[in-house]
Amino acid sequence: MRTAVVTGAGSGIGRAVAARLAFDGLAVLCADLNESAAAETAAELTRAGYAARAVHADIADEVSVAAMVAQTLEWTGRIDICIANAGAMIEGDLLSLSLEQWNRALEINATGAFLTARAVMPHLLVQGGTLVFTASTVGLAGMKGVAAYSAAKGAVVALTRQLAADYAARGVRVNAVAPGAVRTPLSESQFRARARDDDDFEAQLKQVIARYPISRWGTAPEIAEVVLFLATERSSWMTGQIIPVDGGLLEVR
Ligand SMILES: NC(=O)c1ccc[n+]([C@@H]2O[C@H](COP(=O)([O-])OP(=O)(O)OC[C@H]3O[C@@H](n4cnc5c(N)ncnc54)[C@H](O)[C@@H]3O)[C@@H](O)[C@H]2O)c1
Repeated sequence: MRTAVVTGAGSGIGRAVAARLAFDGLAVLCADLNESAAAETAAELTRAGYAARAVHADIADEVSVAAMVAQTLEWTGRIDICIANAGAMIEGDLLSLSLEQWNRALEINATGAFLTARAVMPHLLVQGGTLVFTASTVGLAGMKGVAAYSAAKGAVVALTRQLAADYAARGVRVNAVAPGAVRTPLSESQFRARARDDDDFEAQLKQVIARYPISRWGTAPEIAEVVLFLATERSSWMTGQIIPVDGGLLEVR
């Protein structure tokens, strides 16, 4: 059965992507650092009659990523699609970031993408498969206060283009989706952490989307739809593309 590995499948965008790929007929390996969250995603899908399995994986750990791939192969014997989606926001501008925070942001968001891609690529080459990264609009344009996170997402953008160049002739396509502000546990916790109270939290959420031509937050299923497009034959003549899904933020003034 055609198989997809989705990292960060326990929450937000990854959970929506896992569901969207399952609806499209793929067996979905739901990987997450939070094992019980991944198990919840997989259980929801299997209850609805889809093929899904959960594994614990830390994408920043080479051994754990290798185990994730091994468990996928034990399950279905193949990997056709990988969605390297797991990531974490680490806030801070240049003068407030510690070296530890910088390294952590790079480790999860950039090294994690590298380790995932390197572990799945031999299997994607067998199938003529696809790899889709979750980058971010902050990997393409500046935003205040997220220097390390945006540098890490910039690395993901560059890695997408590099891997597309290296593997196109061998039948593997590599693209990325670059979401703008999407309401997920990741984005909510970022604003919760600095809000004085509920009213301030809501006011801050509103302030973010004031800059968006389509003036509302994005949803995880809206990102998942584009990921599905990039991961399947629907996008068969596309590789090395970074597709913003951002309510017009980057291109409309
Ligand atoms: N939400 C947004 O506004 C937004 C915007 C642009 C990009 N993104 C990116 O989208 C991706 C998904 O974000 P989300 O908003 O769904 O976040 P989320 O916090 O809801 O989900 C992220 C998931 O990744 C998992 N994870 C974190 N570190 C991990 C690790 N080392 N190994 C394995 N799993 C790990 C978490 O446990 C969590 O389940 C991330 O790469 C994020 O940077 C999000």
